[in-house]
Order: sequence, then structure tokens, then C-alpha cells
Amino acid sequence: SDQSQLNENSKKQSLDTVRENAEKQYLTTNQGVRIPHTDDSLKAGERGPTLLEDFHLREKIMHFDHERIPERVVHARGAGAYGYFQVYESMAEYTRASFLQNPAEKTPVFVRFSTVVGSRGSADTVRDVRGFATKFYTSDGVFDLVGNNFPIFFIQDAIKFPDLVHAVKPEPDNEMPQAATAHDTAWDFFSLLPEATHMTMWLLSDRALPRSFRMMEGFGVHTFRFINAQGRARFVKFHWKPALGAHSMTWDETQKMAGQDPDWLRRDLWEAIEMGDYPEYELGVQLFEESDEFAFPFDILDATKIIPEELVPVRRIGKLTLNRNPDNFFAETEQVAFHPGHVVSGIDFTNDPLLQGRLFSYLDTQLIRLGGPNFAEIPVNRPLAPVHNNQRDGYMRQTINTEKASYFPNSLSQGCPMLAPESAHGYVHYSEKINAPTVRTRSDSFKDYFSQATLFWKSLSPAEQDHLVAAAHFELGKVESRAIRERMVGLYAHVDHDLARRIAEGIGVNIPQDNPRPGVLPPQGRRSVERSAALSL
Ligand code: HEM
Repeated sequence: SDQSQLNENSKKQSLDTVRENAEKQYLTTNQGVRIPHTDDSLKAGERGPTLLEDFHLREKIMHFDHERIPERVVHARGAGAYGYFQVYESMAEYTRASFLQNPAEKTPVFVRFSTVVGSRGSADTVRDVRGFATKFYTSDGVFDLVGNNFPIFFIQDAIKFPDLVHAVKPEPDNEMPQAATAHDTAWDFFSLLPEATHMTMWLLSDRALPRSFRMMEGFGVHTFRFINAQGRARFVKFHWKPALGAHSMTWDETQKMAGQDPDWLRRDLWEAIEMGDYPEYELGVQLFEESDEFAFPFDILDATKIIPEELVPVRRIGKLTLNRNPDNFFAETEQVAFHPGHVVSGIDFTNDPLLQGRLFSYLDTQLIRLGGPNFAEIPVNRPLAPVHNNQRDGYMRQTINTEKASYFPNSLSQGCPMLAPESAHGYVHYSEKINAPTVRTRSDSFKDYFSQATLFWKSLSPAEQDHLVAAAHFELGKVESRAIRERMVGLYAHVDHDLARRIAEGIGVNIPQDNPRPGVLPPQGRRSVERSAALSL
């Protein structure tokens, strides 16, 4: 593959072949037959009946009848934009990923921002996590960084994801509330799941009310791996830092905006790009050595934890610029298919059990959402790197494969693809040694649920703390079950007694006597935080 061929227009040019403009063209059927009249159906006599032979009527209504596809099971509401990414200096020391080598190269990207809980038509300014998913069309294939605007997640193991989403989505009998967490099932679940406490603190904070997608951080959340050309691996956490800084709305502003302009965030993104005021984000990485896997007082495979920037600083390695709005919301923003399993040579996974489950889920859901196995051929999803393989057929197949043999090994077919060696950027999975019994348990190193929630609470300014407490009063105040409210206050008492007291005062439950289990529950057998100060990178 030749990196120098990519530039910021590469993806746009590839889409030109399918972009359609009907201006000054005749109206036709899907078969290209020109249509002189589209206001009246064909009838036997002026007052009917309508004739079945009216192929224009049948085709027009048939197509309309099938316009909707299932919305995403989560992150249904979103807005997308194209742009490009440019690395500041070669990262060859750490990764062989082609798009992180050459500062002169502009790698085309498509980004989709989203809310998580609400349906496609819900308001933008609700209290929720925001998705920040980036598709890099690199010369070595597509890399998707499918992140959120919080650096952590609710759960530690993907097997809890269906439970989480059933709890936070609208209640099953009355489908209320439309797009919010202020209801019994959500807080029932959180109150019974101490590992979610850190994330619920972020959810109650102003971080859940971004002022603009242009003013929002992004995080890959999981620990990934960078692998260099010598095969050496290091751990990496991904960050997006907005050039405009991170800003939130106040609760009152979000409520007014949900009424006055429910499209507030998508309109802001669209208009900024139309005006040439291009949103920019720096890509940051926290890099650390494999030998430091156990250097932290938490597990680096636990997605409910950050790696504090004081321990591993964020190095800014490149810039993302969004400079073009899609032409067609459905074709591009709705049909785009992100997947954390889309990695390129030089980037690999870790054993984070949340990440491992995601690797199954996205492809699985897209098979139904996008109608079969050929959705990688939808223009927005097509890589810029050439695609050659022996996958064949299936609903909506577009490619006309010309080889006779679609199997390995074969001796019949000329033009059959060859296997790519590592030197040609063939993807080789990182070889990690695993020698352990099969178990259905969770490591003790995942069991400190509160110390980072305390860290987060203490990092907030007094005004931000007031906002969080007010949010808890609103959210938990809507919960009918007193037992749920009490359990939540009980969990927050583990985080900070003053926080629990202030929340309890506003939601009609008893103030906890004392902090029941203050501070950190240190995982056994781990090295101390002081050790982390001496990290090698
Ligand atoms: C969609 C992020 C955890 C399943 C998304 C999207 C984002 C995202 C940004 C929207 C993609 C788009 O714009 O099209 C995350 C993050 C997670 C997480 C950061 C945790 C760190 C999970 C888990 C599962 C899951 C654990 C399942 C086990 C899904 C599904 C979709 C989705 C099914 C819909 C995809 C589609 O229909 O195209 N996620 N997610 N996510 N996520 Fe996650």
C-alpha cells in the first residue's frame, strides 16, 4: 500500500462515483423509464378504480414503504461529519500503524457523535453519555476508534451490557422517559451494581451536558496496544482533546434548549462546518510499558477506571479536523458502521472483558441493522485500501468478483488474492501468553469501586459539586422506590460522606450515620501508587 496516495479528498473522490444530482434531469423509475406525471395514479375513468398496472405508482409506494431500517440499539441519535487526521511526528517508535507515520499525510475520517439512550428523534441536550466514534480510512484499512466523551464505563464485563441497556432505556410498559436516566429501572440497576458508581458520578456531573460536540473530549476508554515494526508492544489509552476546550451547559440551559431547539448539538456542528469554522481535536495517547501492567492500584483492564494523567501524561500526537458535512444523512450518518474490532496493523486489543464483548456485538448488530453481510460495501463504510478476498454472495452484494476459485488453496484461478506477509502490513495478532484455568469470575483487582469516584468528586470545583448534587436531587427525586434512593445514598457514602449527606437531604431519605467503608479497598497483591510514579515512559 502506498501511503502517499492518501489526502484529505481521497474519501470524497471515492464517493463521487455514487453521489447523485438530479438537477435538470428527467424524473425516471428505478429502471430508467422517464415519467411525465407523478401527481395522479392511473385509473379506469376519472373516478377510478386505480389500476394495478401503474408501475410508477407501485414502485413509488413500495420504495417509500421500506424507507425505515431499525435504529441503532444504542446511540440511535447522532450527527456525522467528514474530515482528516494528521500526525504531528512519526510514531514509528511505538506503532507501525501507517496513518501514524508521516506528518505530510492526511488520512480521511468520518466521525459520528451521538447520545446513547434516546431514540433517533430524541432531544440533543439530555443528560447522557455522548458517543465519539471515528473511522480512519487509512492506507492499511479502516481503523475505528469507537469512543465516548467519558473516559470510563458503567460496567466491567460486556455480559452486563444487555442488563445495563434494558435498565437505562425507557421503561417497558409505558416507554417513559424518552431519553433520560431519571427513572426507577435505571437507578435500581445502578443501586445494585457498585462498579457503576464512578460512572454515575460522571453522569450526574456537567460532563453529561456538553455545550457543543466541538467542545467535547473523547476517550477510547479501554487500554489498547500499540505494536511497532519490531513487534514490541506497549499499552495505550486514546484521548481526543477539543481545540476549543471542554465546555458544558447548565441544566437550565439544556432544558430550555430541549424545547426550543432539540437539534441544538447537531445544528451547532453542521453550521460550524458550513461556515468554515472547522472543529478540531488533538489525538492524545497515554503510553506505558507492558512491564508496567501491574504498576497501578487498579487494573488496566478495568474500564471503570481512568489512568490518572499525573501517573501517565497524555501525549498529543496529531490533529483531527472536521471540514465537510455529509450530503445525505441516511446514506452516510445512518448507514455508517463503526466497530471497535476494526483495527489496523500496529494496533491491537487487550483482555479488557468489556472490550472483548464489544468485539462480538457491533458486527452482530450491524448484520441486522444494515440488512446482511455486505454492509462493508456501503460507500461510507468502504475502506480506501483495496479489498480482495474470497467472501462471496449474500443479500445486496455489489462487487462482481471475476475469479473462478474463491477458496484457498487453489490452482485454477488467476487473479486470486495472495497472502500478505507482515512486511506488507499483513495484520498479525499480538502474541500474548495465557496460561490459566477457565473460570466465570472476576479478578479481585477489579473490586475497588469507589476510590476513583472519590478522586472525581474531589476534582470538582464547589460550583461543579453543587451541580452534581442538584442533578442527583432531580434524578433520584424522580425515583418512586425509597429503597432504591436509599441504596444509592449508601453507595455514595462510600465515595464521600458529605456528598451522600447532601444528596440524602434532597430526596427524602435518611442521612447515613458515617462513611461505612471509607477510602480505597486496595486490591490484594498489587504494587503501590508510588511505584507508578516511576513508570518508564
Ligand atoms: C454503538 C461506544 C460499550 C454495543 C456505540 C456507538 C458508540 C459506542 C460511540 C455509536 C457508534 C455510531 O456512531 O454508530 C461505546 C463505548 C463503550 C461501549 C465507548 C464502552 C467503553 C458497549 C458494549 C456493547 C456495546 C459493552 C455490547 C456488549 C453497542 C452496539 C451499538 C453501539 C450494539 C450499536 C452499533 C450499531 O448499530 O451500529 N457504542 N460502547 N457497546 N454499541 Fe457501544
